Amino acid sequence: MIVIKKNTLIFKQGEFGDTAYVIDQGRVEIFIHDSAGEEIVLTVLGHGEIFGEMAVIDNQIRSASARTLDDCQLIPIQKDQIFDILSKSDSLIQLLMRVMLKRTRNLNDSLAGISTAKEVVEPKTNPKMEQVFDKIKLENQLLEAHHNNEFEIHHQPMVDLQTSKIVGSEALIRWNNPSLGMISPGHFIDILENSSMIIPVGYWIFEECFRHYKVIAEKTSMKDFSISINVSGRQFVHYTFLNTLKELVIKHQINPKFFKLELTERILVEGLAVIDILRQCHEMGFLISLDDFGTGFSSMQYLSQMPVDNLKIDRSFVMNVINDKKTESIVHSIIFLGKKLGMSIIAEGLECEAEIKKMHSLGAEFGQGYYFGRSMKLAELIEKINQTP
Ligand code: CMP
Ligand code: MG
Repeated sequence: MIVIKKNTLIFKQGEFGDTAYVIDQGRVEIFIHDSAGEEIVLTVLGHGEIFGEMAVIDNQIRSASARTLDDCQLIPIQKDQIFDILSKSDSLIQLLMRVMLKRTRNLNDSLAGISTAKEVVEPKTNPKMEQVFDKIKLENQLLEAHHNNEFEIHHQPMVDLQTSKIVGSEALIRWNNPSLGMISPGHFIDILENSSMIIPVGYWIFEECFRHYKVIAEKTSMKDFSISINVSGRQFVHYTFLNTLKELVIKHQINPKFFKLELTERILVEGLAVIDILRQCHEMGFLISLDDFGTGFSSMQYLSQMPVDNLKIDRSFVMNVINDKKTESIVHSIIFLGKKLGMSIIAEGLECEAEIKKMHSLGAEFGQGYYFGRSMKLAELIEKINQTP
């Protein structure tokens, strides 16, 4: 907090600045000088308002001057703090911010009788901005991809380690781009999950899985095949989620017990409301799987409150379980804990027989991984199910 006496000039139009201020007490006048040198007051700000943010955000000179009208108490905010927050925000917000700042500058200039075209100061190029543009471009392509039906659901088989039979699959999204070919989710899932697009695409994934399930039931003798569907935190806490899910269950006439909602511990960043939504999904009959268990921030206290049916042990553990005694102990404890809480254990990323043997002997009931198959199209999955005796 800084204290500034009444009638003090805080900064002058045209200077460079790296601090914005939030007003705790007192009033601050924002003004510019016109081409004749006359003062034009733009606004008077008070408690809870911010000023000086423009130069900090767009890296240009102060668009106006600021002066205290009372003895003021101000909270300074440094450029780094603002940059840090902004760089984590949605790319569209960053772009909106830039365009709005530019418009305010132009308005101020025309008010002051300055020709914007002549006086504009070129912004220092910000390399981060390029990344923002790339992200917006990709978001747009993804939206088009959804409209053009270019997304596909592929399945990675999930196997019973006791019988080696396929008992289910994890549904994974693929992007079949007409010019680039099949694109794996690693290249776009983060963007998808962090944009509002995940809501319609998320529902499309559910519907596609419901349709696929019916085909599997029809074309194989599997009676209790289950499909695991990845759900992101953003989808989960969306106000339409529970109702839409109920509607889709009715529309497709499916039994939710054949579907597992796969969530990571990260959904807890959306707050504790998540646990309540989780319970309601469980009451509808969906099973819940905790994905990548042990890799996120540990949340043992929530584990007891969440209705989790399956624990998926991440490949990062599985790959070291044979050669590293400590990893083996950790996996052993996780499985012990999971089973005590009534969960089934699924080992992820199984690539060789030794890993399978080890994970099975430690208590994992189910497994998934390249050894059993990569993600494949529905027709291929059906063929594979029908091949196994
Ligand atoms: P900055 O450009 O860093 O320094 C001057 C500040 O005045 C600016 O950030 C905004 O906080 C504020 N400001 C600039 N133009 C206007 C306007 N037209 N109306 C209200 N406040 C303004
Ligand atoms: Mg998963």
